[in-house]
Amino acid sequence: MTKIAPSILSADFLNLKQEIQDISLGGADLIHLDVMDGNYVPNITFGMPIIKSIKKISSIPLDVHLMIDKPERYIDDFIDAGADILTIHAEATTHLHRTIQLIKSRGIKAGVSLNPATPLDVLEYIMDELDLILLMSVNPGFGGQSFIKAVERKIQTLKNRISADYSNVLIEVDGGIKLDNAKHIADLGADILVIGSDIFSYNDVRARTEQFKILVSE
Ligand code: DX5
Ligand code: ZN
Repeated sequence: MTKIAPSILSADFLNLKQEIQDISLGGADLIHLDVMDGNYVPNITFGMPIIKSIKKISSIPLDVHLMIDKPERYIDDFIDAGADILTIHAEATTHLHRTIQLIKSRGIKAGVSLNPATPLDVLEYIMDELDLILLMSVNPGFGGQSFIKAVERKIQTLKNRISADYSNVLIEVDGGIKLDNAKHIADLGADILVIGSDIFSYNDVRARTEQFKILVSE
């Protein structure tokens, strides 16, 4: 069944504890945490201190998405802060295989994220090492953008490759997912949907999360 991972990038940071409780009560499967360094992407968000605090109150796994340059510098820090899944960008590290090995050596699930224009071939010699592949369906850096239609084909192609290899790596799709396209994206092959603004821009975050859960469970 397709899982829901709300991204707190669009949450009310003055009421983060309540927002996290609400998405959890609404059935969220993961909390998606968008870490941005202002270098790899043109935005800066938060780092280990926020993640440490969220870990104390979260009953669901932390899905940490590192949109930072040279993420190998901070793998241990984000794992020590509480990451349950740690995803790095293939485009942001020189030694992708070594960095994935480092994450897995700590017993944490390892993910690789690809920007919209990055071809799937980048994954060819590392696919077997991965727990998760995060396909960006917007250009990373901001919430509230529109889904890039060309990524639909990318999701289908990746799903077919995974099925052909009988591997169990999960496909997570991130960016521009709304209530009116979520089911379609799930049907294309997405196992996990990251949703930011179309959950947190609503007053009743719990009810909005429940709507997504019901939709993708149909
Ligand atoms: C963008 C982030 C996404 C974003 C999704 O760089 O990686 O997770 O927060 O937000 P929406 O759902 O608003 O596109
Ligand atoms: Zn993200």
